[in-house]
Amino acid sequence: MNARKTTLVLPNLIYLFFTSTLVKLGRVNSVPSRPLFACDSSNPLTKSYLFCNNKLPINQRVKDLVSRLSIDEKISQLTNSAPAIQRLGIPAYEWWSESLHGVSRHGRGYRFNGTFDENGTILNGTATIKAATMFPQIILTASSFDSQLWYRIAQAIATEARAMYNVGQGKGLTFWAPNINIFRDPRWGRGQETPGEDPLLTSRYGVSYVRGIQGYTIQGKKTSQHLQASACCKHFTAHDLDNWHGITRYTFDAKVSKQDLADTFQPPFQSCVEQGQASSIMCAYNRVNGIPSCAHYDFLTDTARGQWHFDGYIVSDCNAVPIIYEQQGYAKTPEDAVAAVLSAGMDVECGSYTTRYSRSALEQKKITEEDLDRALYNLFSVRMRLGLFNGDPRKIGSFRKIGPEQVCSEEHQNLALEAAKNSIVLLKNVNNLLPLSKAKSSSFAVIGPNADSPQVLLGNYEGFPCKTTTIHEALQLYVEGIKYHPGCNAVECSSAEVEQVVEIAKAVDYVVLVMGLDQTQEREKLDRVDLVLPGKQQSLIKSVAEAAKKPVVLVLLCGGPVDISLARDDDEVGSILWAGYPGEAGGLALAEVIFGDHNPGGRLPVTWYPKDFAQVPMTDMRMRPDKSSGYPGRTYRFYEGKKVFEFGYGLSYSTYSYEFASVTRNTLSLNLASYANPFLKGSNITQPLLISHMSKQFCETGKLIAVVRVKNNGKTPGRHPVLLFVKTGVQIDGSPIKQLIGFESVNLNEGEFKEIEFPVSPCEHLSKANKDGLMTIAKGVYFLVVGEAAYQINITA
Ligand SMILES: *[C@@H]1O[C@H](CO)[C@@H](O)[C@H](O)[C@H]1NC(C)=O
Ligand SMILES: *[C@@H]1O[C@H](CO)[C@@H](O)[C@H](O)[C@H]1NC(C)=O
Ligand SMILES: *[C@@H]1O[C@H](CO)[C@@H](O)[C@H](O)[C@H]1NC(C)=O
Ligand SMILES: *[C@@H]1O[C@H](CO)[C@@H](O)[C@H](O)[C@H]1NC(C)=O
Repeated sequence: MNARKTTLVLPNLIYLFFTSTLVKLGRVNSVPSRPLFACDSSNPLTKSYLFCNNKLPINQRVKDLVSRLSIDEKISQLTNSAPAIQRLGIPAYEWWSESLHGVSRHGRGYRFNGTFDENGTILNGTATIKAATMFPQIILTASSFDSQLWYRIAQAIATEARAMYNVGQGKGLTFWAPNINIFRDPRWGRGQETPGEDPLLTSRYGVSYVRGIQGYTIQGKKTSQHLQASACCKHFTAHDLDNWHGITRYTFDAKVSKQDLADTFQPPFQSCVEQGQASSIMCAYNRVNGIPSCAHYDFLTDTARGQWHFDGYIVSDCNAVPIIYEQQGYAKTPEDAVAAVLSAGMDVECGSYTTRYSRSALEQKKITEEDLDRALYNLFSVRMRLGLFNGDPRKIGSFRKIGPEQVCSEEHQNLALEAAKNSIVLLKNVNNLLPLSKAKSSSFAVIGPNADSPQVLLGNYEGFPCKTTTIHEALQLYVEGIKYHPGCNAVECSSAEVEQVVEIAKAVDYVVLVMGLDQTQEREKLDRVDLVLPGKQQSLIKSVAEAAKKPVVLVLLCGGPVDISLARDDDEVGSILWAGYPGEAGGLALAEVIFGDHNPGGRLPVTWYPKDFAQVPMTDMRMRPDKSSGYPGRTYRFYEGKKVFEFGYGLSYSTYSYEFASVTRNTLSLNLASYANPFLKGSNITQPLLISHMSKQFCETGKLIAVVRVKNNGKTPGRHPVLLFVKTGVQIDGSPIKQLIGFESVNLNEGEFKEIEFPVSPCEHLSKANKDGLMTIAKGVYFLVVGEAAYQINITA
């Protein structure tokens, strides 16, 4: 302590000396009272600070910085809006920015209508950049099953973010995306933000997104000394309920089995950290088996930092700390709440409770200064990794050249269009009703509450889009004189103008209905309570379809699935397209699909359940079915009930066929006799064995390559995602019906085939979690499955 104090005194004196000199010289403005960036070379003290020496490794610089801080300064930093530490030339920093599918106007860090001055005040009307590219909402982009596309989108977002930062419209570079919670229940209002219900799909999405945002290559190599921006894997963990019949995320205690945790909820977070190298994790509001996520030492410290070697900062969801005391009653006092999160491993709170109660928690010896130091170490490390401690990042940083012209560039807007086009899912197309002919002789109507709304295209966590074209406007680019009617008063459709739209439908050759949900029906803090279309939408569809001359085209905009079995089974509804919330270019993308300029190839990233599924309590976290109580289980991996549409379902204007061209081997031997371990030697091999007991040799040499040949048998070129599943011959305790183990999207001309190599590793892809949450492998028969094609693999003792 003493040594620390003396080292502080000297620089302070020098600083005072210099400032007073500068004041005399009339140059005080060059050293702002609140600096815009740290380690400004015009600040005479910068040279004396070890933490400003960018030749030293970051850990040394951060240690130096933290050692210079007083207790009050340390405490002041534990909030998302971290204040400046003026005497050290360290600026304020805003940790909270959002970038789910484009630089977002939500969060505190980015403004589209003004710049931030040195004090973080918004100077209205000074913004250079008034819009950013709004890509499709994630649930749609996931349907492309295309990790390169996800990566390119994230790269574009990071570029636009740096451009906004460089012109003073951002006051942080830490973005709280991706949302990689499993879309466990179709009613979840935030399911739209996620890549769906499958752990592998979600993991791959998260990894691609993080690599793109942080400026890594698609393979995860670092190309710059600095992070381009920081991504955050959220919400850790088992967080997928917002507000269902008054049960909220703030108090919900998710009862999760070790088995479900191991093979459903945790894998996306593990990949996000291990493969994505994400520089942040957000802990969730809810409790998991009684313990608040942000106070969960086992998750935050043992698992994330210990097992997965996470090296970034851990932030709480916003105001997740006070609720631990105020709503969950888990902590007895505010200080206990603060102690619980800091000692569990949380580094910064979104909110200011921790800054408010850390001093008293210290005095009550509920936390130690070391707890604060650890948090500060993690926080300042990330700020340094972003290049924010090397002088003005807009003048000397690796990303200084990114300018406003790179925001809403043609390239990015085309990418938003490509993403929407390659993700839209064709669910029904009887007698090839689609694509419609562009012939001028036909007449058209577009009907529905989502047909002419620019806002619905965006989904939540949106920013201000470069340009939006509604579906109605986009269809007009193809055909003239389209009749339009919203049909309903709003998306809730409490009243419908059935007579008027029926008259319109009778008068034209083709009708496109644009129905579904919007943010009034599903959003953050609002889960649905049923799975049907709102209000009178369903009856409107029926009336219009009956009245129309030809079968109608139904377009659904919604994040979560709806039970549209009536339309699916109605001959008067010829085609159904699902377009999620397709982003700023979604209207154009739909028009291209409808008129045949693009062949749709998206495949559903979630199971579409029948409406009866709404009888299952949303609070029941179990993934696996329970036959004794009639609990049906969840997602394609476990749910055995009727489906409206399956995970992976999606048609095209072409048809595709698959075969296994070659598989490097069809038998794998566990080779138990060779083990010295008596546990394995001669063990009862009808029981699965722990992966951790298997030899590296088995896990490595057991790897095989399955080559799948996919052919476009149609007359239209298309992009087609190929999905490889594994099925077990023998059902053992809680094993999935099938499991996605690989996917890849390929372009195929008419008649063309391609071969895709899928690596299959027994320990990774043929293993299953047991009741203790440990991965196991069993001898027996396995099938690799693509479409109708199956290939048998035997694992022998
Ligand atoms: C400026 O933009 C933010 C979102 O970026 C918005 O919340 C705020 O209302 C806008 N303010 C003005 C004055 O337009
Ligand atoms: C920022 O705040 C400081 C301290 O309150 C003040 O002296 C300074 O003038 C402010 N700067 C601007 C640009 O308003
Ligand atoms: C900018 O506009 C916001 C919202 O209208 C207002 O609260 C704020 O005071 C304005 N800032 C300045 C510097 O005028
Ligand atoms: C091996 O396990 C099976 C299934 O649990 C059991 O029925 C059998 O009795 C066991 N055999 C031995 C030798 O332990």
